[in-house]
Amino acid sequence: MRIIRSVPAMTVWTSGLRREGVGIGFVPTMGALHEGHRSLIRKARLACDAVVVSLFVNPTQFGPGEDYATYPRTLKDDAALCRAAGVDVLFAPSAAAMYPAGAHVSVTVGNLAQRWEGMIRPGHFDGVATVVTKLFSIVRPDRAYFGQKDFQQSVIVRRLAEDLSLGVKILVCPTVREADGLAMSSRNRYLTPVQRRVAPVLHEALQAGRTAILRGIRFGAQVARAMQRVVEQEPGVTVDYLACCDPRTLEPLARITKPAVLLGAIQLGRVRLIDNLLVRL
Ligand code: PAF
Repeated sequence: MRIIRSVPAMTVWTSGLRREGVGIGFVPTMGALHEGHRSLIRKARLACDAVVVSLFVNPTQFGPGEDYATYPRTLKDDAALCRAAGVDVLFAPSAAAMYPAGAHVSVTVGNLAQRWEGMIRPGHFDGVATVVTKLFSIVRPDRAYFGQKDFQQSVIVRRLAEDLSLGVKILVCPTVREADGLAMSSRNRYLTPVQRRVAPVLHEALQAGRTAILRGIRFGAQVARAMQRVVEQEPGVTVDYLACCDPRTLEPLARITKPAVLLGAIQLGRVRLIDNLLVRL
């Protein structure tokens, strides 16, 4: 496995492969890799001739007061995981390489970025869309793999690829969970042992929402209340949102007449957790 740090070197490598007709699979990450990332790499490895993983903690998607400075940076472990998983290139540029001084142009996402995570983290999805666009133009993949755990991100990245005709197929892969249901996330390592015991309550709440729908509840507000009741049983948990939405537009559903996505975000102390469940009627 090669570790490439410079943008021109990465571009040379991918241009060579593309000339030879090699299909490139791409897994963009911010590092601190876990089983969720490993499952994306596995899928890319099975479907593509060459696999590129990027490892870049993107400053433009963090707001003031968020965890950019303290975000786990574990290059050595990440490189070992990638090597063992059969990755061909680990692209790990610096912030200066990705955002040279004097850059003026960025990507702005419309309404899809205004709700849920976007409301709590203003500018976050513009930062994600900008870096993903840059990564796609450097790596020029045929297929790119994202986790369903970041549901809103996956909807926005699909739109980004389609609306800007980026020529890459977006694959959204199922969330990988711990045995107790907690969705795997690089930020789970911030949880104290007590918070870790409480954390699965988010998945339990989403499951309660799904059960309510499958039992015939058809009002989105009632489903949201069913989820809220579960979380309220745990003192010390703050709900950012628990909502029943249209999986394409992310608008809240007043009446549930078609597949829905249950979106949730909670705070345990200073740690934010997000998760979701798709419900097909
Ligand atoms: O999901 C992530 O890890 C990041 O948002 C991404 C897609 C790598 C962009 O920085």
